[in-house]
Amino acid sequence: MSTLLQLKNVNSFYGEAHILHNLSLEINSGEVVSLLGRNGVGKTTTLKTIMGMVKVDGDVIFNEGNISGVPANIIAKKGIGYVPEERRIFPSLTVKENLLVGVYQKGEWGLREIYELFPVLEKRQNSMGTMLSGGEQQMLAIARCLMTNPKLILLDEPCEGLAPVIVQELERAIAKLKDKHVTILLAEQSLRLSKTLANRHYILSKGEVCFEGNSNELFSDEAVLVKYLGVS
Ligand SMILES: Nc1ncnc2c1ncn2[C@@H]1O[C@H](COP(=O)(O)OP(=O)(O)O)[C@@H](O)[C@H]1O
Ligand SMILES: [Mg+2]
Repeated sequence: MSTLLQLKNVNSFYGEAHILHNLSLEINSGEVVSLLGRNGVGKTTTLKTIMGMVKVDGDVIFNEGNISGVPANIIAKKGIGYVPEERRIFPSLTVKENLLVGVYQKGEWGLREIYELFPVLEKRQNSMGTMLSGGEQQMLAIARCLMTNPKLILLDEPCEGLAPVIVQELERAIAKLKDKHVTILLAEQSLRLSKTLANRHYILSKGEVCFEGNSNELFSDEAVLVKYLGVS
């Protein structure tokens, strides 16, 4: 497997606030990797670091090029798709328009493939963004990201605040992406999605990696689960 993304001793800052400390992680092509940890440990900051949205010191290597310090729009064009927690769909555009605005890279994912993955988006293709439920908005946000045919997708707590039946639907969709060998970094607080979807895991605590391992290593390490994830 080839390394698609590598962070080497990365430090990230919001102004003077030093949030990530010597963070190193890597993702191989085709992997789903989870980034776990309680609220406030730096998961979102890690995704923003990769995306070039915070001040970074250290190396962020993507597809063999150093993207540390590169502007976010350029990083997006290089093939990293970001689905932020707040989704940011366009409320005054229809579902279909939302899907078509972001297309700047043709490839495997087009409207047909998106509607196959999320049939509800086809049914609602002419509905305005404002009319969508939280779950539909999340599907649309993921779908819009896929439409750019990214090489790597950063997903920030995709199931946060959604009803269990929607969570199941999203879980199925992300599992299908995994089957298609889409490379995903999944930031999550809950273990549920990480357990079913990811092969490898990083846990953050106070902006540092405090655990790294595969699913067997993680789920057999009760001390780590209790200490860093509050699992009892
Ligand atoms: N824009 C910001 N300015 C200053 N501090 C921030 C900002 N955003 C987040 N932080 C701080 O950075 C730390 C990590 O936050 P975040 O990456 O959002 O954590 P998580 O996603 O794991 O909940 C927290 O202490 C948070 O208060
Ligand atoms: Mg977060």
